[in-house]
Amino acid sequence: MNGPIVQATSLQKTYPLGRQKVEALKGIDMRLEQGEFAVLLGPSGAGKTTTLNLVGCLDRPSGGTLSVAGTEVFNGRSSLSEGRLDTMRREHIGLVFTEFFLIPTLTATENVALPMLWTGKPDRDRAVELLESVGLGHRLTHRPAELSGGEMQRVAIARSLVNDPGLLLADEPTGNLDTKTRDEIFAVLRKLNEERGLTVLVATHDHELAERFSRVIPIRDGRIAGGEHHDN
Ligand SMILES: Nc1ncnc2c1ncn2[C@@H]1O[C@H](COP(=O)(O)OP(=O)(O)OP(=O)(O)O)[C@@H](O)[C@H]1O
Ligand SMILES: [Mg+2]
Repeated sequence: MNGPIVQATSLQKTYPLGRQKVEALKGIDMRLEQGEFAVLLGPSGAGKTTTLNLVGCLDRPSGGTLSVAGTEVFNGRSSLSEGRLDTMRREHIGLVFTEFFLIPTLTATENVALPMLWTGKPDRDRAVELLESVGLGHRLTHRPAELSGGEMQRVAIARSLVNDPGLLLADEPTGNLDTKTRDEIFAVLRKLNEERGLTVLVATHDHELAERFSRVIPIRDGRIAGGEHHDN
């Protein structure tokens, strides 16, 4: 694939709320190149989750344009069908959230292998390789209750990579973790970015965490705020 992995212009999202409307995104311009390691930083209500949901093809914009992995997802009037959005998510996007959403009765390996059921036969070796790549090679047969919060988040990250997406979107992935564990999860994300060339976009309100990314995209009141900061 050539060109940016995410290209949004004047991206808008309006939620209906009873008889009112909430303008969550008021026109976001954002371009992410392949291999970037970026963070959306903003206070509660700024529009971080809304942005990730649109880029992650979990929801549809109300205006503007959006392309992801070279596919036009929204052209200002119409959006891809639900089926095509599902395919986009499956083929191009890994999603990680604050909650880990692991299946309690399955082992770490089985949790990681689970999404392969939708695309073919679960490949245990691939699940193990991914768990090793997030530093969990020694916890393969543990169930979620037998893992720490940081370990559960590592399993969730490994699971998100099972279909080899080019783009990882993580919404407050360290929101439930102490600062030491937060830093470990950050290190895992950076390693995946450096070693696999995975494009990473994290959303957080944590300034201390955000400072360590190569690129900080500040967001406030549904707009990209001024003062974007690039490291490289
Ligand atoms: N489904 C919805 N219906 C109506 N309004 C919504 C909906 N989802 C979000 N909003 C509103 O849109 C705005 C942006 O919300 P969003 O969840 O994107 O913020 P956020 O930056 O992720 O905040 P937080 O840090 O608290 O997670 C907020 O004002 C929120 O109340
Ligand atoms: Mg949010």
